[in-house]
Amino acid sequence: MKKIVIEGGKTLSGEINIGGAKNSAVALIPAAILCDEEVSLYNVPNISDRDALIDILHHLNCQTSLDKDALKIDLRQLKNKLIPENLGKKLRASYYFMGALLGKMKKVEMYFPGGCNIGSRPIDLHIKGFEMLGAKVKIVGNKYTIEAKELIGTRIYLDIASVGATINLMLAACKAKGTTIISNAAREPEITNVATFLNNMGAKISGVGTSEIKIEGVEKLHKAMIDVIPDRIEAGTYAIIGALLGKDLKLNNVIDEHIEALLSKLKDMGVDIKEEKNSIIINRAKSLEAINIKTLVYPGFPTDLGQPITTLLTQAKGVSLFEETIYENRFGHIKYLQKMGATINANVHSMQAIIIGPTKLIGADVVATDLRAGASLVIAGLIAEGTTTISEIEHILRGYDGLIEKLTGVGANIRIEEI
Ligand code: EPZ
Repeated sequence: MKKIVIEGGKTLSGEINIGGAKNSAVALIPAAILCDEEVSLYNVPNISDRDALIDILHHLNCQTSLDKDALKIDLRQLKNKLIPENLGKKLRASYYFMGALLGKMKKVEMYFPGGCNIGSRPIDLHIKGFEMLGAKVKIVGNKYTIEAKELIGTRIYLDIASVGATINLMLAACKAKGTTIISNAAREPEITNVATFLNNMGAKISGVGTSEIKIEGVEKLHKAMIDVIPDRIEAGTYAIIGALLGKDLKLNNVIDEHIEALLSKLKDMGVDIKEEKNSIIINRAKSLEAINIKTLVYPGFPTDLGQPITTLLTQAKGVSLFEETIYENRFGHIKYLQKMGATINANVHSMQAIIIGPTKLIGADVVATDLRAGASLVIAGLIAEGTTTISEIEHILRGYDGLIEKLTGVGANIRIEEI
């Protein structure tokens, strides 16, 4: 079994290039389905979620070619058929084939998606939106058959500003008859990246980045290309590492506006951050001030950086209060941070944790329970005294392109070992 092994305590200096955003790429690849010709995606991260989606495209008889971070997808031979459970179960974002195939072929058959075990993660808002556009949804067990004679634009209010529902309804509505309004839409930058791609294909989408998105249906979508935006969560993870161990640690290909919520918190904690054009330079703080964090929808503090920043808060002087408001089961990492010596009082019902610091962390055997929990344990291992061994690393490799190379490149002692 593969494990990540870390010898902690190394100062990190040099440059890390941030890759394309996982949560954008995993929407752009299914969105390609809506085109009748060929599309090109650039800056696609080399992560296992990418390969899982390409497997589904091949299952639907689409041709693909991958050259480093450039992915070409040819949709001309597309055959619409049931997406088997084993393919869709590998990741959450397989659900974007629902909006894309319904939008293009007026029919999709697939199973409830996979993804990190961080809550019940229902898709009721997606389904409600598809039905409001005129689709009939049949659910047998966890198999979904969604079909429509035609899709007709309408106003859809989202109870929660859901990233997935906003993107999936955009995919379904861009070839519908008439105009669709998504109100209380999510505003994450990945949604703008997907809308830009669809507009490059000839769609008519406006208002992205605000909570009201307008989609005027079009007949046809043509050949197009898109760059995947930089991964703000990957950038945030390395920025947190820099706050703990950085000596002029430079992160390149960063849109600092996308991680403003994090950067402002790091500055409140006393971290020295210099922002340059598309780069930030971080030096570890001599001492870190305790702060309070509450995760929110964008542009609030991202839930995906909640677990990584918890590790940082274990090193802050005083009492920090951390509150997770998006998911009901995102504290899987806490028992392992406690095992390494952290003082954390967590209430899994209210999703609140009191973190008292600074505490010295000691290397231990720990388990990555999900992607970002894994990231928080990698950070813990990098600052801990001695050796940390992390198992179930496939969770981590799903979302961090070149993690080991990037960290060893700036002086970390981290490796993957077959144990
Ligand atoms: C996306 O998940 C990201 N995943 C998540 O990142 C991220 O945590 C999340 O957005 C929030 O920013 C991808 O983009 C693939 P939501 P998504 O729909 O779309 C509830 C990572 O670590 N909800 O915005 O699934 C839901 O249960 C992953 O990279 C409903 O109740 O998130 C959650 O509590 C983890 N009904 C909240 O809304 C619905 O129909 C936000 O979910 C849809 C969502």
